[in-house]
Amino acid sequence: MPRADRFPMTIPFGWFFVAYADELAIGDVKSLHYFGRELVLFRNESGVAGLLDAYCPHLGAHLGEGGRVDGDTLRCGFHAWAFNPAGYCVDIPYARVMPPICKREPVAGPYPVREANGVVWGWYHPQGLAPLHDVLEVAEFTQPGWAAPTRLEWRFRSNPQEIAENGVDVAHFEYVHRMNSVPEGVTTYEGHIRRSAAVGERTMTLPNGQTKVVQSSVHTVQNGAGQKTTHLTGIVTLALQVLVTPVEADECELRFCFTHPVVPPGSFEDTAIKAAIASTTGQSGVEGDIPIWDRKIHRTRPLLCDGDGPILRFRRYFEQFYADHDSGKTSIAAE
Ligand code: FES
Ligand SMILES: [Fe+2]
Repeated sequence: MPRADRFPMTIPFGWFFVAYADELAIGDVKSLHYFGRELVLFRNESGVAGLLDAYCPHLGAHLGEGGRVDGDTLRCGFHAWAFNPAGYCVDIPYARVMPPICKREPVAGPYPVREANGVVWGWYHPQGLAPLHDVLEVAEFTQPGWAAPTRLEWRFRSNPQEIAENGVDVAHFEYVHRMNSVPEGVTTYEGHIRRSAAVGERTMTLPNGQTKVVQSSVHTVQNGAGQKTTHLTGIVTLALQVLVTPVEADECELRFCFTHPVVPPGSFEDTAIKAAIASTTGQSGVEGDIPIWDRKIHRTRPLLCDGDGPILRFRRYFEQFYADHDSGKTSIAAE
């Protein structure tokens, strides 16, 4: 089966990770390939990040090839035209008269950009619509008292919907992740936001051999197609950003970015946090799923049984993020 046939879905619209904020210094220019497109990301001397179509509107040079930050702009390496983060051409060093369009509209194919939670987010919509919702702030990733983030990343042949659907596929937890019970949760859908909360008790064994019952909870928020956050409390407290960026319709990058309250190095809490991160990311976590995502197809009409989770309800939620969805909806607001 040719690759493109594995998924009928196109690339959903949404806010997607394009860089970690601290990995984009002033003056940096990065070539990216996301959303099936060539892009260039830069940070100007005022500290503002810009995400543009990689190909210069003048004669088509790749702005990542010889392009450099100059003041508030990115200057093309070919004939030195200068573009600001909003995509306007603001200087052509050898033009006596600027083309009138340069004043009227952005010419460099800009993407809306936000910075929140230590992440630079780019808004993708296949028809170039302005953002239909916001990025959610997750205070733990920027506030004092929380540890520097632990970051992991993977690249494989899948898409944001398949990855997000994993959370409602309750039956796989036993067979892929060897978990014998999944706590009952409460899920709410509100437009583009899906929230789930599961609260339960866990029995843990202390280093002195005694056992203790600990209250635990898992809260997740899915904010559109590209932003998911999970908060875990119990033996440890963890905040996790699940960041998926489509590279092509059937290829993506996935990042996990964790933080937790600062704890003394080598303490019991420190060991427990490291163990929790390892189990969330290793075979008992996302690395158990990745080989399956990498080869599976998407069944639009799956054969389901009563023990499967609310997969179809989840799909109805997610289909609002496709501009080419059957109903012809192109915006959340049109609902
Ligand atoms: S191609 Fe970019 S300035 Fe000419
Ligand atoms: Fe999974």
